[in-house]
Amino acid sequence: MNTEQPIGLFDSGIGGTSIWKEIVKLLPYEDTIYLADSSNAPYGQKTQKKIIELCVKNTELLLSKGCKIIVVACNTATTNAIDFLRKNYNVPFIGIEPAIKPAALYSKTEAIGILATKGTLSSKLFEKTANEYTRHITTIEQVGEGLVPLIEAGKTNSSEVKNLLKTYLEPMLKHHIDHLVLGCTHYPYLIPEIRKIVGNNVQIIDSGEAVARQTKNVLKKLDLQREAKKSKHQFYINTSSTTLRNLLHNSSVSFSVEELNF
Ligand code: DGL
Repeated sequence: MNTEQPIGLFDSGIGGTSIWKEIVKLLPYEDTIYLADSSNAPYGQKTQKKIIELCVKNTELLLSKGCKIIVVACNTATTNAIDFLRKNYNVPFIGIEPAIKPAALYSKTEAIGILATKGTLSSKLFEKTANEYTRHITTIEQVGEGLVPLIEAGKTNSSEVKNLLKTYLEPMLKHHIDHLVLGCTHYPYLIPEIRKIVGNNVQIIDSGEAVARQTKNVLKKLDLQREAKKSKHQFYINTSSTTLRNLLHNSSVSFSVEELNF
């Protein structure tokens, strides 16, 4: 492994670009390769066996492209497959999990909401973290069913999204939550709509920045951080790239997008 190799990222689709943006901000000299496995989205409704299979496919493609570290930019993939990946591949993996620890720690109303996929909420890793940090408070867990396909279709401001969000979030408000954990990397793209529903007194937490910091720490520790050089960013997607291009269009860095069968 050497400093010149790119950082690899993958997600069930375009949601992990919310993590990619934080990584590019914090590590501006690193090259990146991002895989959007949109043809298999959503992962959240699949079995753990299937999720592991898809993560293996994505990992092998990123390794064949010479990545020095892999960021699993998907809560569902992390909570279901990261143990398997770490046991089977000799490359460092960074994962993302719903940030329930800070939410539980800072909640004054002692009530927090967690919006995530079925795959994440039913995973053993999530159960373990929840048991550790939330036993003394009220947690309202909600599957964000239907949201990922709408985001993949570029319908973040649609009435379908607004109605689903109302159905999912209003019951949380009745429990007086003061923190809402976004447990899926697609959901940060819904923050403007979420904010309209929950108002300004609910703290919305996503883990993007924390993942970028963790990636930086691991690269530093392994002496794999790249020196000040111009960076290159490549995206591969196995469906139409229109929504992805729209999401990235105001990006501060230049990038290439390729539609690829994988
Ligand atoms: N971005 C994925 C996550 O963080 C979406 C999951 C899905 O495809 O259902 O969980």
